[in-house]
Amino acid sequence: MYNIKAAEVKPSITLELSAKAKKLKSDGKQIINLTVGEPNFNTPDYIVKGALEGIEKGFTKYTQTSGIIELKEEIVKKLKSFNNIKYNSSNILVSTGAKQCLFNAIFSIINDGDEVIIPSPYWVSYTEMVRLSGGKSVIVDTSKENEFKIDVKSLDEKLTNKTKILILNNPNNPTGSVYNESELKEIGNWAVKNNVIIIADEIYERLTYDTKHVSIASLSEEIKNNTITISGFSKTYSMTGWRLGYCAAHEDIIKIMNAVQSHTTACANSIAQYAGYVALRDESKYNGITNMIDEFNNRRKKAIDYISKNSNLTINSPKGAFYIFIDIESLIGKSFNGKILNSSIDISEVLLDEFNIAVVPGIGFGNDDYIRISYAADEELIIEGIKRIIELEKLAK
Ligand SMILES: Cc1ncc(COP(=O)(O)O)c(C=O)c1O
Repeated sequence: MYNIKAAEVKPSITLELSAKAKKLKSDGKQIINLTVGEPNFNTPDYIVKGALEGIEKGFTKYTQTSGIIELKEEIVKKLKSFNNIKYNSSNILVSTGAKQCLFNAIFSIINDGDEVIIPSPYWVSYTEMVRLSGGKSVIVDTSKENEFKIDVKSLDEKLTNKTKILILNNPNNPTGSVYNESELKEIGNWAVKNNVIIIADEIYERLTYDTKHVSIASLSEEIKNNTITISGFSKTYSMTGWRLGYCAAHEDIIKIMNAVQSHTTACANSIAQYAGYVALRDESKYNGITNMIDEFNNRRKKAIDYISKNSNLTINSPKGAFYIFIDIESLIGKSFNGKILNSSIDISEVLLDEFNIAVVPGIGFGNDDYIRISYAADEELIIEGIKRIIELEKLAK
């Protein structure tokens, strides 16, 4: 009766769990919610003021589909200064969050049966977007031994004459892995050689710790022409609810994505666009973002330290984003309070029901041996949440 592809789409497990934790909280339970994928900071004041200025200036109507020129020009400057990629405003498409950019990109490239290579663990929405676009997700497994990174050998094994896209999420959600320049160069050259378009999801680009973010599109002209770089305002400026993202790519693909978007959402919210323009234009005058990054780094270090000193749980020390992917394989097959822990979902359920802590089961990211916690929460809550996970680790038999 309904569209088969749409009916098969699974709702976002992260959003579902976060909603469940919020509901339990509002019912009076003292839940520690470590599922969140958004900074627990307010949008910086100068950006809020920018939005008000936007309203007063009349940025309250439909804009060009691709976004207001003021914002696109600021994005061009930022791509040059931060990402080291040279583009013009005609290479930019502003959308309703990086999520819409990703969907626009996948939908605009894929024909029925085309294959999209997705390194696992992966962000929950990629496989569903591919499904909705009629494509087939081809998963490349990675492991903590190789820092959850792919290489050319693993890509070669998955390459077929139907491979159209490689989705590269760097820094990665959920593992926090960050690729270095030489790793990216190899992957970029592989994609060029094999005519595979790279969708580079760099939404966490500003959140790297003790390491520098490198954009794959900055590494050569050929790689740039073969890459769609996606970023946005949600994570960097704590603007998740404003729904503002953008992508940069060759004009040919931007034109198609632009046409697709013109028939779906038309343009990103005009007030959010103006606020985004101010966010970029005036960032150097404020230090709110640097403070936020430092604070994440501080929490990251404390969380890693606490886990390694107080438990046998293993983690791959994250170098970017704001998540820790915790290996819970040693708990699988054990039981707690009569409940057998057969999967990451069982473990997440026990943690929520018995320990009042919400985490995301790794299966949502394609790996059932892990759970993900977010350190975009208050430090005491992160440590208390970790203590409870360790308690389960000690009590499960
Ligand atoms: C890897 C990744 N890509 C894209 C997004 C979507 O970001 P936006 O809020 O800009 O749509 C998220 C959000 O959690 C994410 O984790």
